[in-house]
Formats: sequence, structure tokens, C-alpha cells
Amino acid sequence: MNQEIWTRVDDYFAGLFAQEDDILKTVLRNSADEGLPPYHVSPCQGKFLQLLIEIQNSKRVLEIGTLGGYSTIWMARALGGNGLIVTIEAVEKHAAVAARNFELARQSNIIRLIHDDAKNALQLLINDGNEPFDLIFIDADKPSNPVYLDLAFQLSRPGTIIVGDNVVREGEVTNQNLSDDKVRGVRKYCQGLSENPLLNSTAIQTVGSKGYDGFTLTVVKGDESTSHPFQC
Ligand code: DHB
Ligand code: MG
Repeated sequence: MNQEIWTRVDDYFAGLFAQEDDILKTVLRNSADEGLPPYHVSPCQGKFLQLLIEIQNSKRVLEIGTLGGYSTIWMARALGGNGLIVTIEAVEKHAAVAARNFELARQSNIIRLIHDDAKNALQLLINDGNEPFDLIFIDADKPSNPVYLDLAFQLSRPGTIIVGDNVVREGEVTNQNLSDDKVRGVRKYCQGLSENPLLNSTAIQTVGSKGYDGFTLTVVKGDESTSHPFQC
């Protein structure tokens, strides 16, 4: 591993393309001060999510796993005042920090923060007949990833983009040692992506300030003019 150079290069690109303003810096400081784990995305990854939103012209974004809301704020800024982000956080303290950060970033008006177990919250959204989401970012507890995929799929439509964070785990994804339930979760998630004929996916390994990891990128297949979610 060569963390020092990965961080230096990431900082270089962030300086060019993804500079954090004072608000984003304060958001991370608040999160660290409150003892949240450093599992937030990097600035370049936040910018990547923004670009996906811009490319797709997303209006409705679903985030599973808010943590302190850092990625949420990157994405909210890409929506530019219209649209909606529904973001789900199970841990009360994380949700409280995120709520404060959304106020600080003046994005609370387009962010609906749900403090609940994500499986429960997603099932409620499905039961409510929620409109499908354009982009879904899965970044919560990894053992639950296969379930999140099933539920996210039911909240999708043809053309929905699904991004799954942290699927490489320093290469552990190819380690079939089934004792790590995070690895088990991401492997089952990736298997689920590959086996669903309506999902079209790839996985990209990354190095950078967040170490050696990676993400999946998926598009839901089908005719985009039929905007029905895949739910019964
Ligand atoms: C973990 C979770 C994350 O969302 C992340 O970005 C990095 C690590 C984890 O649970 O180990
Ligand atoms: Mg993550």
C-alpha cells in the first residue's frame, strides 16, 4: 500500500476539481468532533456524485447511509435548489449531526432526513407508492447491502443510476473467507447486481485519500419513457 502518494495525488486533483469550501470543512470537523467514523466520501468522490447528477439531470436522489451528511451536501448542491434528496440514517447521533450540518449548509429545504433503520424506511417508501428515484447511493452498513439492493430496485425505474460504495475493501472482496460479514455483504450485493437481468453494472477500483476501495455503478435497464418503478 502506498497511502502517502494516493493522498498526495487525491489532494492535487481535489485542489483542481473539488475544492471544499468552509461549509464542507466545518461539516467534516463537526462530524469528527462528535466522534463519527471517517467513512465519508472524499472531495473527488463527492464531485463524482455531483457530476452523475448533472449528467443524468437527476431530480430525486436516495441515499442509504447519511453519516454526517457530507456526501448528501455535495449531492444537494448539484440539485441546485430544486429536486429532493431522501437520506436514511439509522444511528441517532449521526442523524443529529447530519441535521445540524444540513442547516449549516442551507440545504435542509431539499433534504428529507429519515432517522430509521434503512430496511424499515425503504419498505415504508415502497408501501407509500413513492415516485421512483433517479439516482440511488448505497453507502450504509455493508452486511445489509443485498437487502438494500432489493429495496432500492423497487424504488427505481428504467434509467435509474445506482452507486454502491466500498465494494473493494482493500481487495478483501475476492477473499472468500466468509468470516467478515462486510465482505460477505458486498459480495452478495455484487452477485445480486450481476444476476438481475434488468441491471447493467460495472465496478471500479479506486485509490486515494480514503485508501484502496471502489464502487459499483449500475444503470437500470429498460425504456426510460415508462417511468414506473419496479414494484408490485
Ligand atoms: C466503511 C463504510 C464506508 O461507507 C466507507 O466509505 C468506508 C468504510 C466500513 O463500514 O468499513
Ligand atoms: Mg462509504
